[in-house]
Amino acid sequence: MRRSAPAAERVRARFRERAQTFDDLYEDERPLTRQLRPGLFRRRQLAVDTVGTYRTPRVLDVGCGSGRIGEFVLEAGASEYVGIDFAEPMIELARSRLERFGSRATLMLEDFIGARIPGRFDVVLALGLFDYLPEPEPFARRMFELCAEHGCLVGSFPAWSPLKGPIRKLRYEWIGNCPIFNYTRDGLELMLTGSGFGRLEIESPSHTGFLVRAYRG
Ligand SMILES: C[S@@+](CC[C@H](N)C(=O)[O-])C[C@H]1O[C@@H](n2cnc3c(N)ncnc32)[C@H](O)[C@@H]1O
Repeated sequence: MRRSAPAAERVRARFRERAQTFDDLYEDERPLTRQLRPGLFRRRQLAVDTVGTYRTPRVLDVGCGSGRIGEFVLEAGASEYVGIDFAEPMIELARSRLERFGSRATLMLEDFIGARIPGRFDVVLALGLFDYLPEPEPFARRMFELCAEHGCLVGSFPAWSPLKGPIRKLRYEWIGNCPIFNYTRDGLELMLTGSGFGRLEIESPSHTGFLVRAYRG
């Protein structure tokens, strides 16, 4: 793919090519891997914990990937789960992983921006998604619209780190031709309150990113 191709196309190309490699990261739950990739497991735990605070919630998972988080939130009591992703191999992996949940799980192969998504949701997940968005504001606004009255967005956002930042830039952008973006706490607050969200809970479990719960009301 050309370097001048739109950012979304380059992101989609990356996840088309690497769906299985990404999925395999979750298999490796050895202590060393967990230490090297703590964000992957922390964000999944936050999704599960948040789902557990609602009674039989409807959950929307934006950039659902291979359904690794979907299976946990369905097991944690989500009454309905809608996963959306624009990379076909990711949706195929998610489909086979979530088949056992029957009609409680729906998967959509679409770009979130522009997709027609029915109803509103108690929990909207955006985990490992904002990393790849050159214009995140329309995504945050649409997520706000899709939150039910007492609903919340659970999102992960990378931050620039002097140690890991240059390595990520090199791996993703220069070698992998995939754009990536970073966030600051102030920038996040501005974007999320500007999108309509009220109460924000922002954690920074490591210096490499933020985990956020943004409540509609
Ligand atoms: C790093 S993966 C994270 C997958 C999953 N949320 C997880 O944490 O396991 C990011 C996913 O976002 C998807 N994605 C990125 N931009 C998207 C968009 N505009 N619409 C739908 N999916 C998108 C990619 O295809 C990819 O599968």
